Amino acid sequence: MPLFRKASSDTPEVDFEHLPRHVAIIMDGNGRWAKKRGLPRTAGHAAGAETFRTIATYAKEIGLEYLTVYAFSTENWKRPEDEVAAIMKLLKKYLLEAIEQMERDRVKMAFFGDLTPLHPELRDLCRQTQEISKRYEGCQVNICLNYGGRDEITRAVRELAAECVREGRDPASITEQDISDRLFSAGVPDPDLIIRPSGEVRTSNFLLWQSAYSEYYFTDVLWPDFSKEELLRSIADFQRRSRRYGGV
Ligand code: FPP
Repeated sequence: MPLFRKASSDTPEVDFEHLPRHVAIIMDGNGRWAKKRGLPRTAGHAAGAETFRTIATYAKEIGLEYLTVYAFSTENWKRPEDEVAAIMKLLKKYLLEAIEQMERDRVKMAFFGDLTPLHPELRDLCRQTQEISKRYEGCQVNICLNYGGRDEITRAVRELAAECVREGRDPASITEQDISDRLFSAGVPDPDLIIRPSGEVRTSNFLLWQSAYSEYYFTDVLWPDFSKEELLRSIADFQRRSRRYGGV
């Protein structure tokens, strides 16, 4: 991979030797994309799933180590039943294909979130995908499914509190690392860059603990229109920033 590459005339130069290790994306704007075209919202999610495929493949190609996407939040259950069912169906389709092509793609997959309320078939597919792909090295794609940042932190705190009661552990001994180790993301480095398309400028309960020092990139592009070029643009923007982690 060349050090600098111009992907297209309007794409800024990216230093491929110093990519962010971990990029996370809030895949937002599917509904508006569909509405603009007079299509049902579910068509927007189908288009969004295609974009996810393209971006996940490209992430691996350029050498990103971790890609985390927000596919379904703990709050998304409030959506109409047919929309929830359509998203679950898309996930099932994606996982079935992923399992079929696993030897070729060699992408490690993991799931962040409580999978218990999912349909048993989907839950098994998630477990199977994670299990089969765990031997792959290179790019790891994390799919946040029934995920909420507050829920994730609450579970970690509950676990630690139980440890204190059960084992008589001193609560004063609890460290930040103890919390990190009990999150769905345990062992995965914090995201360097978090991308939110669709013009919304909020975190929506996504990776609350892990994003303490993440750089955010917001764009008006709707997720189904998000492209490889847009990903490179966000990375180039990230590379121009100076990260001080509270220092000077
Ligand atoms: C947010 O857009 C999107 C979601 C809640 C669902 C995302 C799901 C997919 C992209 C498909 C399945 C995923 C995979 C990994 C195969 P929105 O509906 O809130 O859009 P809006 O704000 O324009 O209404």
